[in-house]
Amino acid sequence: MKKILVTGAAGQIGSELTITLRDKYGAENVWAADRKPALTELQPGPFYSLDVRDVSTFNQIVEANHIDTIFHLAALLSTVAEQKPQQAWDVNMNGLINVLKISRIHQCALFFPSSIAAFGMETPPMDTPQDTIQRPTTLYGISKVSGELLCDYYHHRFGVDARGLRYPGLISSKTPPGGGTTDYAVDIFYAAIKSQHYDCFLRADTQLDMMYMPDAIDAAINLMTADSRQLKHRNAFNITAMSFNPQQLAAEIQKHIPEFTIAYHVDPLRQAIADSWPRHMNDSAAKVEWGWQAQFDLPAMVEDMLKNMRSTQ
Ligand code: NAD
Ligand code: SER
Repeated sequence: MKKILVTGAAGQIGSELTITLRDKYGAENVWAADRKPALTELQPGPFYSLDVRDVSTFNQIVEANHIDTIFHLAALLSTVAEQKPQQAWDVNMNGLINVLKISRIHQCALFFPSSIAAFGMETPPMDTPQDTIQRPTTLYGISKVSGELLCDYYHHRFGVDARGLRYPGLISSKTPPGGGTTDYAVDIFYAAIKSQHYDCFLRADTQLDMMYMPDAIDAAINLMTADSRQLKHRNAFNITAMSFNPQQLAAEIQKHIPEFTIAYHVDPLRQAIADSWPRHMNDSAAKVEWGWQAQFDLPAMVEDMLKNMRSTQ
């Protein structure tokens, strides 16, 4: 990785990934791009306004800057995708096809984040295997499975070094999430600090895989720098750090804020999405093939989130 482009750089993952990559590889070697304007944190380094569906501008950016690695994060997330299915298909699939074509032309390595959403009701929900039945029932999940398959296709057919992870719900304190079903696990911290109460849109017992952002960033960089000879799967690796439900997260927050309370006002759309996803994935392939290991469990994540959020409020 010498010249890196991050699409969707103003989002929850992109804003933190870009800064970490700039610290590691030099600000002048990491280009950020998004349809949204640059965040203040991204302004010291190069930034492009880019809609990933515009293949010509996308290609020019890669060519002009001799990009060799692309982290392709631009997408619409699960809840927004159910609200705007056609737009989500357009952005998630045509954006990915464009970046695959461009990666082929310019021989770029490509990172594509898939998700727990790539699984469906027929998938084993506990200890979900790396290789198993998928058949998601959400538009977002369908775009992720299709994306996983397209990345494999471009690798086998055209030699594109396309790698990827199935991220669980991601929790972070810097940039708010962009419209996913796991967003409750971030919103709860803002509410706990501001009003010591949270109205949760998922049922108390909705167990899902989750991960703290520093682990998610490390995972992306470690996968992209792993020796390709060790990678049997290369793409769509299950990874997880913890698995909990809203009641368990609230109990952990109460250890730090005893007056914190939670109530449940279930949103049927988001509950149905969450109910279609696995509860806890098996991530042994990632551990064996490229040494994946999470640093943050539930207590460590809650402690660090509250510390970071209090220091910025
Ligand atoms: P986000 O919504 O916070 O950020 C996505 C960014 O993409 C936004 O800044 C948005 O402006 C940009 N974008 C949207 N449409 C675009 C377009 N047409 N052209 C250019 N930019 C566009 O999402 P995120 O949480 O940072 O997720 C990044 C990637 O990781 C996505 O592919 C998402 O599916 C995947 N992922 C995220 C999570 C999570 O919990 N955050 C979990 C699994 C997978
Ligand atoms: N966290 C994401 C979402 O809820 C899963 O990919 O959409």
